[in-house]
Amino acid sequence: MRIAVARETEAGEPRVAATPDTVKKYKAVGADVVVSRGAGIASGILDADFEAAGATIADNPAADADVVLKVRRPSDAEIKTYKKGAVVVAIMDPYGNDAALKALADAGVIAFAMELMPRITRAQSMDVLSSQANLAGYRAVIDGAAEYGRALPMMMTAAGTVPAAKIFVMGVGVAGLQAIATARRLGGVVTATDVRPAVKEQVQSLGAKFIAVEDDEFKQAETAGGYAKEMSKDYQAKQAALVAEHIKKQDIVITTALIPGRPAPKLVSAEMVKSMRPGSVLVDLAVERGGNVEGARLGEVVLIDGVKIVGHANVPGRLAASSSALYAKNLLTFLDSLIDKKEKTLAINWDDEIVKGTALTRDGAVIHPNFKPKTAA
Ligand code: NAI
Repeated sequence: MRIAVARETEAGEPRVAATPDTVKKYKAVGADVVVSRGAGIASGILDADFEAAGATIADNPAADADVVLKVRRPSDAEIKTYKKGAVVVAIMDPYGNDAALKALADAGVIAFAMELMPRITRAQSMDVLSSQANLAGYRAVIDGAAEYGRALPMMMTAAGTVPAAKIFVMGVGVAGLQAIATARRLGGVVTATDVRPAVKEQVQSLGAKFIAVEDDEFKQAETAGGYAKEMSKDYQAKQAALVAEHIKKQDIVITTALIPGRPAPKLVSAEMVKSMRPGSVLVDLAVERGGNVEGARLGEVVLIDGVKIVGHANVPGRLAASSSALYAKNLLTFLDSLIDKKEKTLAINWDDEIVKGTALTRDGAVIHPNFKPKTAA
């Protein structure tokens, strides 16, 4: 079995799909590992480090590989060079990208989308949304602190007192929880909001104050899968009034609110941004999905009347060494479940719910129920 670790070709993607540590583990189950020249450099991993772990380095490792590991979905040009029947594992970004899925099917590869991993206990160590969102939540606070012209913790000095920064986290999933924990460690006074009631206790256990419109709709806002629902217009209006009152007193706002399969909810209006004092900072982690903050622009820091709106793209990539290490580990545990250790070959169990949940293409067709082309009735 030959595993290729292909270099990322998309601009602005510094992560890599393997580390020397995971290479050693693949070698231990009898695989040959070939890594693209220079693939790890932006994550602080040299070709020599991969070689020391047992990999070989090549310019085009994917050409005769049985398994290709990537961070992002390979381009049409890349997949044309892959072997028919090869397993390709990446963050595939399948929503709204039907043509790209068809290209994967046409190339005859078996494509797995890591972000579709079911959120079940057995798959927790394969959950790339969690591993990457956790780091993004941390980094959002660091980015916010770096843009903020004041100190975060309260400091009582001979020259005067610096007040603690007030930090407000909107959306408390994986990223939001890490943002709260990080903001607390840095000495901020932290408040947080979400539409899912289960979050309240988690926020409080991290030492932050929970703020939300806690009406009947709020009590039913969580889906069976643990995600948020889109809220009614009435709820949104009540939530906006509450946020408007709170936000004008905040120094740093971190927004992370998402609804699966829908654009990010708009939580901070232009007026709310205007109500904040100059020097305040908003960090919008939802900017790639349309943004939670009005005026946020992807890949930019926008300045509006002295208030900064930070809209970095690929926030996990801003911590490439850490995010690559966790992503590589997610891939390792997933791949491990596809390998027959005795025979040292791929043995995909197509009835496994992890396989069913993530497999996009097989035998020339898109097979995932959510992305299968609609056939004419
Ligand atoms: P996400 O990235 O989909 O959304 C982030 C947060 O935004 C969520 O907490 C959501 O409730 C909130 N949100 C949505 N609309 C909002 C609005 N209008 N106002 C305020 N907040 C809003 O969520 P993520 O991080 O993927 O987590 C979703 C759930 O999955 C959580 O319950 C988490 O604990 C759970 N989870 C379960 C795992 C497992 O069992 N293996 C692994 C990871 C997460």
